[in-house]
Amino acid sequence: MTSLQRKIVCVVGARPNFVKAAPLLRQLRLYPDQFSPLLVHTGQHYDDNLSQQFFRDLEIPTPDEFLNIGSGSHAEQTAKIMIGIENTLQRESPELVVVFGDVNSTLAAAITASKLRIPLAHVESGLRNFDRSMPEEINRVLTDHLADILFASEESALANLAKEGIAKERVFLVGNIMIDSLCANLDKIKQAPVLDRLGLQPLSYATLTLHRANNVDESKILADLLSTIAEIAESIPVVFPCHPRTQKRMKEFGLADVMNNSRVRLTEPFGYLDFCALVHNSRFVLTDSGGIQEETTYMGIPCLTMRENTERPVTVQVGTNVLCGTDRELMISEARKIVTGEAKTGEVPRLWDGHTAERIVTVLQEWF
Ligand code: UD1
Repeated sequence: MTSLQRKIVCVVGARPNFVKAAPLLRQLRLYPDQFSPLLVHTGQHYDDNLSQQFFRDLEIPTPDEFLNIGSGSHAEQTAKIMIGIENTLQRESPELVVVFGDVNSTLAAAITASKLRIPLAHVESGLRNFDRSMPEEINRVLTDHLADILFASEESALANLAKEGIAKERVFLVGNIMIDSLCANLDKIKQAPVLDRLGLQPLSYATLTLHRANNVDESKILADLLSTIAEIAESIPVVFPCHPRTQKRMKEFGLADVMNNSRVRLTEPFGYLDFCALVHNSRFVLTDSGGIQEETTYMGIPCLTMRENTERPVTVQVGTNVLCGTDRELMISEARKIVTGEAKTGEVPRLWDGHTAERIVTVLQEWF
């Protein structure tokens, strides 16, 4: 490393982080005389199909450091990550730490960097659903208030941050970096063999993802949702790549049989390319994920979101997203509309164009 190179530690830990970090790392590496990026993986996600498969699919280099933290309660996981990251940051003395999204690894790294007085950048700042029952909302608010540079993906974020008193000089509307990954991989996604492997025809099925703690950690809520989905599956087959949290809960609550149905295909989680290919060819998607609301909007695939609110309102206002909460009648009637050809259509939001990482790096070049 020469004295002109700025050392930047990028911290990732969970599946959605990898999709957001890949384009930024690639862009930073285009300027080896200016930046020396290091990648730290906390190990919040560790299963191959939630972690290493994403590194392979997105061609992310092996992390410079793997903290191997694993699962635990919120406090346990966050605290262990903080201890691990503190060691790394003290040893490396970077000039900037970059965190992504809203997972526990994001918050843990943000607190640690701030207390070591290392400047912090947050990619995907300012999203709010004003629902503190979601751990992600707490992670988002706290991380934004610690960050020195805030990169926003949609305009709603600017108003949210302004209301919270965050100086607008720190905030940059750069667009959605997840969409950079989608644009960069679209050819590979179109060739991914997942449909052949599952024996599916394009547009003949719906894709389901379900893992939000609010939806899966209480037996009655999960049972009701699964029974609604089984009813939707009577009109169109459903493919359900099932997150380990949900698999665990379904077993624990004795609900595995509700999905034991010839119209629902329960699978292990897919890697990035296979999953995007599955979505790209779906008639519609049922989800409680944050990022999938955005990916479906970009791909023009109708999305029914099983949440009462969204921190990504542009996907509803401009995109293909419809919020259904856990309302059985609403989910069934919205699914029926799509199957009968009355799906909501949408447009691609401003700056979701595959060039967000370039805009971030330009801001960083000026900032240093
Ligand atoms: C985390 C994020 C969530 C994000 C999701 C993407 C937080 C608070 N939540 O939720 O915002 O949408 O990742 O997937 O950070 N497990 C495994 N293998 C793994 C990882 C987890 O089996 O590799 C199981 C463990 O039983 C674990 C549970 O899943 O206790 C939950 O994992 P955790 O990382 O705490 O939260 P997610 O539900 O994955």
